[in-house]
Amino acid sequence: MRRPIIVANWKMHLGRAEEAVGLVRRIRHPLGRVPGVELVLCPPFTVLAVLAEMLRRSAIALGAQTMHWEDRGPHTGEVSPSMVAALCRYVILGHSERRATGGSDESDAAVNRKVQAALAHGLTPIICVGENAARNEAGETEGFVGAQVRAALAGLTVDQAGRCVFAYEPIWAIGTGRSASPAAANRTIGLTVRGTIADLFGETVAGAVRVQYGGSVTADNIADFMAMPEIDGALVGGASIGTGFVELVRRAVAAR
Ligand code: PGA
Repeated sequence: MRRPIIVANWKMHLGRAEEAVGLVRRIRHPLGRVPGVELVLCPPFTVLAVLAEMLRRSAIALGAQTMHWEDRGPHTGEVSPSMVAALCRYVILGHSERRATGGSDESDAAVNRKVQAALAHGLTPIICVGENAARNEAGETEGFVGAQVRAALAGLTVDQAGRCVFAYEPIWAIGTGRSASPAAANRTIGLTVRGTIADLFGETVAGAVRVQYGGSVTADNIADFMAMPEIDGALVGGASIGTGFVELVRRAVAAR
């Protein structure tokens, strides 16, 4: 059985300590009472340290929203794997909002380097993949997403591949209020994401890796995604930035 995992991606919000601490103070106890789900908050870098201190004895984990693959060096503005690992257990890698702008280097090859660096530092990478609207309409989802999965996992051992988490996030569904249909997301996650992992590392690893859906997930639609057999949780942006996230998590768990 794969343990569901729900990740809050705060993006560039709540980056001042008083805002972040204020929200976590209101959600941590109610979230702590929801059993059977792994919870990860990914706030901006500026508040990771203060939240790490606050959540030290909590079951809620922290993640970063990106990182560089190098451990040190002349990379102005970048954050290294060891800096992230000092505060977090997770790191989101290859989010489409970063792939789109090329922020730091977010090519498939760079994402692969980051995945390797994350694993080497004991971090769990949450690897984002997903097609844009044009590719979706052209029927290219399977080929495109399959290639992203393949590139992200290049050079990994079976054991390392088994420690990754994937988030399938169709780009056209992110922040648009237009989520994918649960059946279509389930199909892409099963056939393409898990199918590619099975090709590379075998059925056992493919059956163990957790794959989330992301893109306009809300408290109102989370149950429909969680009811799908291939979907192991959600990467939640907009609906994670507020106390409504507690209800979203409750409904997610109730739907399993
Ligand atoms: P959204 O963002 O829930 O606001 O669509 C999801 C994401 O980008 O991870």
